[in-house]
Amino acid sequence: MSDLAIIGAGYVGLPLAAAFAEAGKRVHCVDADPERVAAIGRGESAIGDVSSARLAPLVADGRISAGGDIAAVAEADAILICVPTPLSENREPDVGIVASVAASIAPHLRAGQLVVLESTTYPGTTREVLQPVLERDGLVAGQDFHLAMSPERIDPGRTDFTVRTTPKVVGGLTPACLERAVALYSICVDRLVPVSSPDAAELVKLLENIFRSVNIALVNELAMLCDRLSLNVWEVVDAAATKPYGFMRFSPGPGLGGHCIPIDPFYLSWRARQFDFQTEFIELAGKVNTHMPYYCAERVSRALNSHRKPVAGSRVLLLGVSYKADVGDVRESPALRLIELLDELGADLAYHDPHVPSVSHGRVELTSSPLDDGAVAEADIVCIVTAHSGIDYVEIAERAKLVLDFRNVVPDGDGRVERL
Ligand SMILES: NC(=O)c1ccc[n+]([C@@H]2O[C@H](COP(=O)([O-])OP(=O)(O)OC[C@H]3O[C@@H](n4cnc5c(N)ncnc54)[C@H](O)[C@@H]3O)[C@@H](O)[C@H]2O)c1
Repeated sequence: MSDLAIIGAGYVGLPLAAAFAEAGKRVHCVDADPERVAAIGRGESAIGDVSSARLAPLVADGRISAGGDIAAVAEADAILICVPTPLSENREPDVGIVASVAASIAPHLRAGQLVVLESTTYPGTTREVLQPVLERDGLVAGQDFHLAMSPERIDPGRTDFTVRTTPKVVGGLTPACLERAVALYSICVDRLVPVSSPDAAELVKLLENIFRSVNIALVNELAMLCDRLSLNVWEVVDAAATKPYGFMRFSPGPGLGGHCIPIDPFYLSWRARQFDFQTEFIELAGKVNTHMPYYCAERVSRALNSHRKPVAGSRVLLLGVSYKADVGDVRESPALRLIELLDELGADLAYHDPHVPSVSHGRVELTSSPLDDGAVAEADIVCIVTAHSGIDYVEIAERAKLVLDFRNVVPDGDGRVERL
């Protein structure tokens, strides 16, 4: 018997499970990955935001359990769906996992239960995909069971905001569904933000991610322009950010990565097309951001050329390959595209990333090199792709022959440092 069943115990599901368990609820995690289930059973976490030290006591005293059988949802008061919503091969929304999870919940659904979708998705998914499948065995949403959408806002690796201190948006199918979902989340979230429908909640999440994608694209485009104008984009962005109102700082970089920002906007552009509407900001931002690894590869080539070296045969050491600082996640990381492009140009590639022991992308397979004197001094160029904390980039730059800094973490150094 559990108070809550969480389907999908990944970056989103496991932190939620821990937050509810710490607030006194008994949480049962259902996951399709037997290794993940076994690890949770042993109190071991593969998710950086929930340490094993935090998880183990919750498992030991029975507040968190895990299994692979979705029939366990029958025993829970509330069911939270936190499964992946990827893009298909032709970059269209793939809500197949959400639909199949709903289909496997349906035969076990009981009157009085609450079902909440947490996965990021296009407006309409809860009503058009989830609801009909859940109602298949005769129960009616809003009448026999409650249905809501509450998009997760977690930012893996972030420590200044937690599940509790991050306001949570909730939209219910009916006012009673909303009230029920708000009551549930109030246990472990300080501030709930009710909206009028599941569709509105779905769109709020997409707006948040599209806002980032568009603003990152804007500074990325500015970075490429600044290169032409011989201006330092970082100086410009930093100075603009001193404006106390009406400006929000975004940093340029080698491209978007992770599971959300490169993917989620296309959920909305796809949905918009169904309504004969083109979301041009989304497409343009996608185009600029997707181009960034290509631009960065060109910058590597130019930097080596200015030292009379071709890319072919040059030793290129990449620092950081995860998609952002201080996480080990390489999903959609622009570093992978950069590796592929430099490999095609014949570079002799190596990388160092304390969070990523090995990478395999296309025909390239690499393991993280130790950051000893040799690795830095022997490299023809050192590229700072993802600037993890705990690495002394200034000291590395002093030892390197040539540095290309995509993150603005080292000062200028007698012509040996170039930056985005
Ligand atoms: N990672 C983030 O930063 C983040 C933030 C906010 C929202 N989201 C959204 O939340 C959702 C989940 O993302 P995530 O990052 O937690 O993914 P994840 O890959 O880390 O975790 C998903 C989990 O679901 C499991 N799973 C897959 N299919 C399943 C099935 N049929 N039945 C049971 N379990 C299944 C997987 O084994 C995995 O453990 C996505 O929609 C994502 O866009 C992610």
